[in-house]
Amino acid sequence: MNKTIKRVGVLTSGGDAPGMNAALRAVVRACLHFGLRPFGIRRGYEGLLEGEIEEMNSHSVSNVMGRGGTVLLTARCPEFATPEGVKKGMEMAKVFRLDALVVIGGDGSFRGARDLHRAGLPVMCIPATIDNDIACTEYTIGYDTAMNTVKEAVDRIKDTAFSHERCSVVEVMGRGAGYIAVNSALAGGAEACLLPEKGFDLHEDVIKPILTCRNAGKMHYIVINAEGVGGTMELAERIQSLTGISTTATILGYQQRGGSPTVRDRVTASLMGVRAAELLSQGVCGRVIACRDGKVTDLEIEEALSQTKEMDPELIRAAKILSIYE
Ligand code: ADP
Ligand code: F6P
Repeated sequence: MNKTIKRVGVLTSGGDAPGMNAALRAVVRACLHFGLRPFGIRRGYEGLLEGEIEEMNSHSVSNVMGRGGTVLLTARCPEFATPEGVKKGMEMAKVFRLDALVVIGGDGSFRGARDLHRAGLPVMCIPATIDNDIACTEYTIGYDTAMNTVKEAVDRIKDTAFSHERCSVVEVMGRGAGYIAVNSALAGGAEACLLPEKGFDLHEDVIKPILTCRNAGKMHYIVINAEGVGGTMELAERIQSLTGISTTATILGYQQRGGSPTVRDRVTASLMGVRAAELLSQGVCGRVIACRDGKVTDLEIEEALSQTKEMDPELIRAAKILSIYE
């Protein structure tokens, strides 16, 4: 689809992710650079339906790069995932004479964008979620910051596990995906790691590695459990009752979503935002900005949403090999 685009709405949607502000800043400033007028929409699709839309300028996004969360606010909007919601969204886009919309969020948000695009509103999507679970891109904004937050938390928990000779089960986010979990297990030197992508056997995959380590002289243990596997409290109880090792559970929760974005997230968000605005200025739309082979590129939205993503088996293998000998 090639259209003349001047007025560009931008929103953040779904779970907040560190780096969303950097992406917003890049979209706004690059729009201005390429002769487009950016309009910020508050609270994701909810704000679109309510018409919470205001023109932005270069100053609107000054000093937001280092902030976690999203200054535009975000929401989950069930109404928008209905045909009536999309119709209302299209009407609001007409009221504010928006020629296009940039959606910064996860693949749920992209499905909403696709529906608008099908209804005739040109869209551009920028992947931002800590989960890194968007198939068409190797990387999503927020993932690096979240993993670094988890790494720090696990290091601290490990200090206590070491000092008290305990086992700690740490639940990390990721929705149905285990990317944060497997990387945290590797970076945190975990004895075991449970992923939603892979079934597990309690005795073989958790109890055996813990007891093997104990028999080799180790006295503290970390088990990473992905939220998509769940049952973290019960898992800790089972470990304690089967091994006799004092075991505690920690659910890291929202601390993984907050915080100042890392350099990687700021730079990726900036490059993606510039690309999104530049494409729109050329009349190109209906694309998802993606990171492929380490480069920022873009692909057609329907194609992007039809793809599936496989966990790199080498990560799982390495986490398993290293747990026994650490
Ligand atoms: P994320 O974008 O992080 O994956 P969600 O899955 O919660 O987050 O989606 C965010 C919002 O996107 C939802 O509240 C809804 O408004 C919209 N959305 C999600 N799934 C769909 C869908 N299948 N069709 C249309 N809109 C959707
Ligand atoms: O998508 C980000 C994420 O933090 C997931 O890891 C988690 O499953 C979900 O959002 C939790 O969402 P909320 O508590 O905001 O509904």
